[in-house]
Order: sequence, then structure tokens, then C-alpha cells
Amino acid sequence: MELSTALLLGLVLLVFLWWNKLSRPKGFPPGPPALPVLGNMLQMDFTNLLKDLQEFSKVYGPVFSIYLGFTPAVVVRGIKDLKEVLVNKGIDSADRPQNRLIKAISGARGLVLATYGRAWKEHRRFTLSTLRNFGLGKKSMEERIREESSYLIQELKNNKDTLYDPHFVIDNAVSNIICSIVFGKRYGYDDTTFRDILNLVHEHMKMATSIWAQLYNAFGFVKHLPLPHQKIFKNLKIIFAFLGNVLEEHKKNRVPGQPRDYIDCYLDELDKEKEDSNQSTFDAENLFTCMVDLFVAGTETTSSSLEWCLLYMMLHPDIQEKCREEIHRIRGDRDHLDYEDRMMMPYTQAVLQEVQRCASIVPLGVTHSSIKDIQLNGYTIPKGTMIIPDLSSVHYDESQWKYPHEFNPENFLNKEGELVKVDSFLPFSAGPRSCLGENLARMEIFLFFTAMLTHFEFQWPDQKSPPDLTPVFGITQAPKRFKMRLVPHT
Ligand code: HEM
Repeated sequence: MELSTALLLGLVLLVFLWWNKLSRPKGFPPGPPALPVLGNMLQMDFTNLLKDLQEFSKVYGPVFSIYLGFTPAVVVRGIKDLKEVLVNKGIDSADRPQNRLIKAISGARGLVLATYGRAWKEHRRFTLSTLRNFGLGKKSMEERIREESSYLIQELKNNKDTLYDPHFVIDNAVSNIICSIVFGKRYGYDDTTFRDILNLVHEHMKMATSIWAQLYNAFGFVKHLPLPHQKIFKNLKIIFAFLGNVLEEHKKNRVPGQPRDYIDCYLDELDKEKEDSNQSTFDAENLFTCMVDLFVAGTETTSSSLEWCLLYMMLHPDIQEKCREEIHRIRGDRDHLDYEDRMMMPYTQAVLQEVQRCASIVPLGVTHSSIKDIQLNGYTIPKGTMIIPDLSSVHYDESQWKYPHEFNPENFLNKEGELVKVDSFLPFSAGPRSCLGENLARMEIFLFFTAMLTHFEFQWPDQKSPPDLTPVFGITQAPKRFKMRLVPHT
């Protein structure tokens, strides 16, 4: 065979393979034409996917598909279809895709990235009840947060006369809550080792959605190339080693049957399971993955929310003042607010929810995967397809909000100034896989925020240029680092 004929045949074969792999099956949601091998990856800006997804949906509707390499994914936008897939068909969509990166991070175990099944169900139930039990008898979650707030306020007081970047102490304070629940430890704000670990967690949250992570997922051979995705594994190794040491230290001082924290409860459960003849899903590997999951999921999400709160309060000093008035009125001459007090504070609650709406902290949630064929909006999503829930899409939907494109707590208040429940508010997602830490996160945000506002007025230092609200996109949308002025308030 002549070389030219062989080349031509090769080309035809490649085109055929591409067409076979990337042409959308009948009934599959439509989407932008995909390129051979790369799919739609070159048509998207992975440093902020939201804009591209919005543009695609203008052409293909609220349910459409994209190809990440050879892997199809269905993007779901808008409250109607998101509720349908996450809640009404919540079990059918409750799996997690097991791509290369997810396998490397969690091995399908634990909580966040675990496959749907008995192990995930038992671990979710155990974790929820253990978190709840920490409100009884032992130091309650509320007490832990209040104690940490006093450290945070003291640290802020120490910096009242400077232009101050609050990122690290807020991150550290928030992380101390989950660390104290999971392994009974808090870290001082001058602990540089812990600061380094938190920085790696932030870097991880950014890199996990980067183009390099997508390339690694799409093409196995990339694993061995000296590309930026190697940083993901380097960081994970350090984070895992840090938490592994904490776990080993913890085991040494444990008294069986007298749990101090989540790890002790889990170890007690392991002891019980040893005597049980039923094949248990509780084991050392799952314990470690749950520990990593709670540490990572419970830190940046909540600390970014609080940083956004400060930025929005500096941008709107009138709203900041109204919150403070409500805080002082309800607190009276007590030295702190209780979480229960929020029920009498509709304005502050509306402000906190408005921050979560505008900032859309976890804009694309965590990817789901279909357990069986799902019918959605006239299309079929076949079993085993990746589903990307665009939670941010409902937060700026013009048909759902009084003020979709401005920061305005009235979005959550009626004419009488009462807090109203809005369906199109999904910061924690919805359905069986919704955020497991929602209650904890709400409590932390309320108590830390009100404590800070009780003691300080937050001022943006530069009158000429307002804060830059462009988020740093990743699994979470964190604000850019900023400096502020703290004016003590009596
Ligand atoms: C403002 C703070 C937070 C936000 C906005 C947030 C948001 C989310 C979202 C959108 C998901 C994905 C849900 C889905 O797949 O449909 C999620 C999952 C999860 N979150 Fe949060 N989260 C926050 C704080 C926390 C905290 C403090 C914890 C720690 C206890 C936590 C633990 C988890 C876990 C374990 C999952 C996985 C649940 C599962 O797959 O069953 N989150 N979160």
C-alpha cells in the first residue's frame, strides 16, 4: 500500500472513531460541536467556566451537554431542572463520577466523593448524627464557635491600627472549628505549619478545576508528564501526611468508650463492628477519607463566605450599620448573641443569605453522576453520565429575584421586613447529596459575623476605588485578597 493511501485510511479511521465517540446519542442533551480528542475543552475558559456555560445555555437551553475530552457531561441550569434532577430524581443522580482525579483523591471512599451505596449512606448518617451529638453534653458546637470568636476578636483588636488582610486569621478560626470537632485540636494564629497546610488546601481548590486537572482526567498518559497537575499530587501528599500524623497522635491518647470527638466516635464504631458479623463499611481507610473530607469541605467554603461578608459590608456601610443596630438591639447588655437569637434578626439573616447568593461560593456544586437513565426536560441522561449542577445559575436568574444583579437584602425580605424562604436559593445544593455541613456552616457564619460586627466597624481604606468583587474561580469562588481598616466599636 502506498504511503498516501495508508495516511488517508488512517485519517478516515480517526474521523470515524471521533465521530463514533463524540456524536451525541439519540435523545442526549444537545451542545456545542466537539473537537476530536479534546471535546469542548478548547471552547471553555477553565479559569472561570460560569460565563461559558451561560453562553452555551443561551444556544442549547437549560439542559445541555459538553465533552471533557471523550467524557460527556450534562450541565443543568435553572431552578426547574435543578430541582428535578437534584431533588425529585435525587437518588437517580446521587452518584459521583469516578474520574482519575477523584480516584486519586478519595478512592471513591468517605463522604464528598464517595460512590452512592451502602458505605456512603452509613458514613453520611453516622457523620450527621455525630455532628449533632456534639451539641449535647460535651462542649457544644455553639460554645466552640463562641470561644474561637473571642480569639478572633482579640487578634483583630491587635491589628486595629493597621491596614489589615483578614484572610489568614478568618481561615484559621473557621478551620479550628472543624478541627476541634473532628480531632479536638485548635491551632494558634501564629502556627506557620498550619498556615502552610491551609494555603495548600486553597491551592488545591483552585487546581482541581483547572485545565491541567481536566487534561489529567481525560488522558491517562498525562500522569507522567511534568505538567502543573503534578502540583495537585504534591499538595495532596503534604495535606495527607499532616492529617495522617494528627490521626496517629490522636489514637495514642484515646480511651475506648469515652469519645472526645469525631475520630474517637469512629474508632468506637470500629470496635463495635469488629464484634458484629455483618460485613462493615467502617474501616481505617474510610475514617481517614472522612477526616480529609470534613477538613477540606469545612474550611474554605465557610471562611470565604465570611470574607465576602466583610467585603460587601465595606461596599455598603449603610447595610453594615443596619445589621449592627439589629445586633445591639437583640443582644442588649449580654456579652454575646446566641444562635437562637437569629430568629429575631431577619435583617441580619437576609444580609448573610444575600452574601451567599451574590458570591455563589460553590458555583457548580460537586459533580454528580446518574445511577440509571434519567429523563430530564425531554432528554435522556444515560446511566453513568457526569452531571454538573450549575447552582450559581439560579442565584442571578432574572425571573426569580427582585434585584438579581445588585446586592440587596430585600431579596429575602417581604414588605413587613420578615425573612422569606426563596426556592431559588441553593448555596448548599439540594437533595440526598446536599451539603452535610449546612447547619454547622450557618451557625459559624452567623456567630462569627455578629461577633465581628459587635466589636468593629469595617472600612474600605481606598475611597477612590471600591473593592474588587471578581472572584478567584475554583471549586469555590473565593474573594481576592484584600486589606481593610478595623475601627473598634463600643
Ligand atoms: C458556606 C459554607 C458551605 C457551602 C456553601 C457548602 C456547599 C456545599 C455544596 C454545594 C456541596 C455539594 C452538594 C451536592 O453534591 O449536591 C457540599 C457538599 C458537602 N459539604 Fe458543604 N458547604 C459548606 C460548608 C461545609 C462544612 C462546614 C462542612 C463540614 C462539616 C461541609 C461538608 C460537606 C460534605 C461532607 C459534603 C458532601 C456531601 C455528600 O456528598 O453526601 N460543608 N457542600
